[in-house]
Formats: sequence, C-alpha cells, structure tokens
Amino acid sequence: MKKTLFLLITIQFLVFSSCKNESKNNNVSQQNRGFIAKKAMVVSAREEASKIGSDILKKGGNAFDAMMATEMALAVAYPYAGNLGGGGFMVYRLEDGSIGGLDYREKAPLAATKDMYLDENGDVIPNKSTVGGMAIGVPGTVSGVFKAQERFGKLDIKDVLQPVIDLARNGFIITENQQQRFSSNNDIFTKVNGKDILFGDKTNAGDNIKNIALAETLERIANNGVDEFYKGETAKKLVAFLNAKGSIITLEDLNRYEAKWREPVVFNYDDLKIISMSPPSSGGICLNQIMKMIEPFDLKDYGHNALKTIQVIVEAEKRAYADRSYYLGDPDFIDIPTETLTSDVYLQERMHNFSFDAPTPIDSISHGNIVGYESDETTHYSIIDQYGNAISVTTTLNGGYGSKLYADELGFFLNNEMDDFSSKPGVPNVYGLIGAEANSIAPEKRMLSSMTPTIVEKDGELLMSVGTPGGSTIITSVLQTILNVEEFGLTMQEAVDAPRFHNQWLPDEIRMEPGRFNKEVIQQLKDKGYTINESRSRVIGIVDGILILSNGELEGGADHRGDDTAVGF
Ligand code: GLY
Repeated sequence: MKKTLFLLITIQFLVFSSCKNESKNNNVSQQNRGFIAKKAMVVSAREEASKIGSDILKKGGNAFDAMMATEMALAVAYPYAGNLGGGGFMVYRLEDGSIGGLDYREKAPLAATKDMYLDENGDVIPNKSTVGGMAIGVPGTVSGVFKAQERFGKLDIKDVLQPVIDLARNGFIITENQQQRFSSNNDIFTKVNGKDILFGDKTNAGDNIKNIALAETLERIANNGVDEFYKGETAKKLVAFLNAKGSIITLEDLNRYEAKWREPVVFNYDDLKIISMSPPSSGGICLNQIMKMIEPFDLKDYGHNALKTIQVIVEAEKRAYADRSYYLGDPDFIDIPTETLTSDVYLQERMHNFSFDAPTPIDSISHGNIVGYESDETTHYSIIDQYGNAISVTTTLNGGYGSKLYADELGFFLNNEMDDFSSKPGVPNVYGLIGAEANSIAPEKRMLSSMTPTIVEKDGELLMSVGTPGGSTIITSVLQTILNVEEFGLTMQEAVDAPRFHNQWLPDEIRMEPGRFNKEVIQQLKDKGYTINESRSRVIGIVDGILILSNGELEGGADHRGDDTAVGF
C-alpha cells in the first residue's frame, strides 16, 4: 500500500516537474522605475516616517535604529495602523548574510479564557472581540522595537526618538486619504470613547495635527527605556485607563510581556531564497506552501495575470489557506507540523487534483461553508541601510484604529488583535478567516497572524525586502509582488502597483481589484466555474518594497494605493 502511494506521488511529481518550460520569455516591459537611491532607503506608509527613518540612517544609524524611529513615527503620523498599542513582526538579513525574525505579536491577557467571546448559548457575541476594551491584546510594539534596537542598533535611544517626539509635538499634515478615514470613523470613535477624540471629522485635509500626549509618552520612553511602557508611569496610566474601559489587561500582563526572537521560514523558489515570518504568523508557511505548489508551472510562459497563471495561483492559495485554518497557531502552545506542511511530497500530493479544466471544489480540499468580511488595515515598511543590512517589518492594530479605544492621556489607539484568535471553531473573524483548536484563546497565547514581512535573496545576495497590510490578503499580495519581479520582469514600482487578486479557500471566490483585470480573462474564469468578486474591496494590499538593482542601486516600490513614500540617499 505504502509503495503504491509512493509511486503515485513520484508520478505526480514527474508530471508537475514537466509542466515547467525552461525557456522563459520576459513578457512585461520595464518602463516605470520607482525612487532610486544609491546607498540606503526607507519605504513606509507616510513620507514623514520614511524621512525620519532615512535621516537616522544618514546620521550613521543602521536599519534597526531606523526601525525604531520609523515605527514610532508611523504611530504619530499614521494612527490608522502605526502604533504603540499593537504588535508586529520583523524579518532581518544582516550584511554578513545572517538572518532572523522577531515576534512582537500581542498576547492574550492572563485572565483570558477560551470562551470569552461566547454567550450562554455558545454563540459569538457580536463586536466583543473587535470593538472596545475586551478586544485588546497585550501590546508588543514597544518591546519589539527595543529588542531589535538594543541587539543590533548603533545610536543612543534618545537620538533615535528625538525626531519622532518633535514630529508629535510639531504636528503632521492630514492627507486626503487620512481625512476620509477620520471622518468615516468619527461616530464610532465618539461612541467607543464616550467623547470626541483628537482624530475625527472636525479636521480637514491639509490641517496640522499635534499630538502632545504622545510626544510626552515618547519622551518618557526615551528617558526611561522599555520598562516605562511595561512597568513605569506609562504602564500604570495605561492599565488604569484600560480597566476603566472594561479591559481585563493588568499590570502583571504588561510586566510579563516580552518580544521573542524566532527562526524565520526559509525556502527556495527557482533561484530565489525566500526568508519570511514563522508562526505565530501564518505568512511564511503559507507563502512557502503556495510558492512550492506553483513552482512546477511556467507562469512566465502563461503570462502576467493571464488565465492559466491566475488558475494555478488561486488553486495553490486555496489549499494553503485550508491548511492555515486547521494547523496554524502559536508555536509556544501547539505543535505545528511545519516540516510536513512544507515538504515537496506533501505539496505535490496537495495539488494532485488540480486541473486547468475547472476549479477544485472547496469541500474536496477541506470542509466549511463560511463567508466573511475583509478589511485592509495594518502597515508595512522596508529598510535597507548603507551597511547592507535589510529589514522587513509589518505592524498592526488589526482593524483600522484597532479597538477604536484611544488612550487620550497617552496619545495612542489600542489594538483589537484578540479577534485574530478563533473565538469559536468554524466562525470567521473580521477577515473571513476561520480557525480551529490550534488558534483557540488561552492566557498569554499569541493569536495567529497573516503578516508576511519577507526578504528575498538571489544567488546568495540580498535582492528584495517586501511586505504589505491587508489582513488575509497579505500573503497573496506578497506572493504576487515577488512573482511580478521574478517571473514577469516588472520593476519594483510596477510590481507593487500591478493589479492583484486573492483567494483564501473560504469564501469560495476569487477577489479581484475592480476594473483592473482583462475582461476576457474574467469571463474565461467564470466560464470555467470560478466565482469572481470585484466588489469586496477597492484595493488588495498596499505593498511597500525595496529591490536591489544589478548596478547595486536601490529601487523603492511605494504603493500608489496609499500615501506611501520611499526616501533614501
Ligand atoms: N491582524 C492581521 C494579521 O495579523 O494578520
């Protein structure tokens, strides 16, 4: 029996291998390069944050100094996702080629319980895990930026944070995009906080917002270090505020929080080496699974966003997201069969029922019939410094402005990351993702994420730092950006701007950015039996990346979907 199975898998492997045509045509012209810098670059969601990070590099700081400055500057100028009250992941590659990952994901409070979002009938209580005090996980961002800077940074913390404190004190200009988000959230801000807050519909695009409370918080952190946030005056004020708003987070939760170094997920795709984030993010494992499932196919030959390309990618995505929902969670609490999930044999077997004729039915991949929402929060930044160190960082409050709870005395929003746990197996979270026991709630457990900060090497040399916001669409947006460069020859700027599609197993549909795909291809997909959804959201992901060009210069890809900007020298 075992022998027969082995033979079957081997035959499938051979069939798959022969799908790949060796002669690859570059079928997309290289016209539109992004911002070019000779030595160093920061690309982030706000020009102010990219500039502050780049200035830190100019002063002689390295990528880890710039990480602290950029991340904190995003908390000032991009409160939608930049944060002190959230968490994130960072993947690095040092100039000597050594790599690592940092997990500063939020944790469930000590008083958390598995059923904390269920009513007496065992049903999920609407909004309890998304809005207000009960939605908040123990924040990890301040621990994360300190952990990275203390280990690898070169500059004094006060010098790193001073420009950020100045930004908060002197103010930043509200963009059109930002004003729209402030206005559309105004009512919920007022409802959750019981009063108007600093951000809302009373400002206009072009106005300057000063956040003095945040400047003072950052000043205390600059003076007293990481303990200020987790044990000091800031911690005490934060816990008093949270408890008054119904949160179960205690001072002990803050005292015990610590970011963790993690081994990244590493795999090869053609001549690329991909380094991405490991659990509790699902990003690296899912990206690994999808890329290995599509590797045998000649996407370049099929063409960029062509019918067969979309089919292969969508079918691989389906299978990876089905695995994600069952197997992945916090590795400190569960055993994840990473080796099996990412092995060639397993992935070939997973694609054995793939066909270009028709979609593989989702219930033959796994079970479930759940639909859900999608949203596009979180933020990503990439940094390559003048010493050759690269980092890729994705950070979030989860939903836009997180739980919407704003600690006005401290000047920042608190996350609603608890919604990334599986409140009840089979019931979708805000991204429409369903989960199982592996991602159930437990005290001090980290909730599963999709954040996929990624670094790519080619022939042993650094090639790219890339990542994006976008909830469940993060993984597939990072995938398409890498493929756009590797398979289709796009520049970094073209790669991040190109139209994107997404499939996450459930709901059973291909989401496509509206009006951006060839109508004929859409019709062909429908004819084959795929459901196309062009209305779920206006954009899929807001990707930022940096590509090292063959002459050694850096090209920034700052996604035109947002206010994202590359700054460097
Ligand atoms: N909160 C979105 C994620 O971590 O994937």
